[in-house]
Amino acid sequence: MRVTLATTGELAPGERKLIGLYGRRIALFNIAGKYYCIADVCSHDGGPVAEGECVGFEIECPRHGARFDVRDGEVLSFPAIRGIPVYPVSVVDEKVQIDMDES
Ligand code: FES
Repeated sequence: MRVTLATTGELAPGERKLIGLYGRRIALFNIAGKYYCIADVCSHDGGPVAEGECVGFEIECPRHGARFDVRDGEVLSFPAIRGIPVYPVSVVDEKVQIDMDES
C-alpha cells in the first residue's frame, strides 16, 4: 500500500520526521533535497536510531553509537552487526511516499 509521509514543502533539507505507521516506527529524512526513509529501530538493541545525529548519510544511534547509512540501511559500525530496513521513497505530485503493507 502506498502511504504519504509528508509533502515536499514540509521537510527542508537537513530535517527529519519521525512517524508511527501500522505499529512500526519509521523516519523520513530530507538530505540535500532527496528523501530517505528508514526503520527507527536500531538492529543492535532496538534503540531510536532516527533520533541520533545525522552527518551526511550517516545516522548514529543515540543509545550506543552504532552508525548506519540512511540510503541503504547498511551497518557502518559496532556495536550493531546487521543493517536496518529502508523503504524506497518516491515523490508524486508533491507527496513523499513509500510502499508499506499493514502486516
Ligand atoms: S541500541 Fe542502537 S547502538 Fe545499541
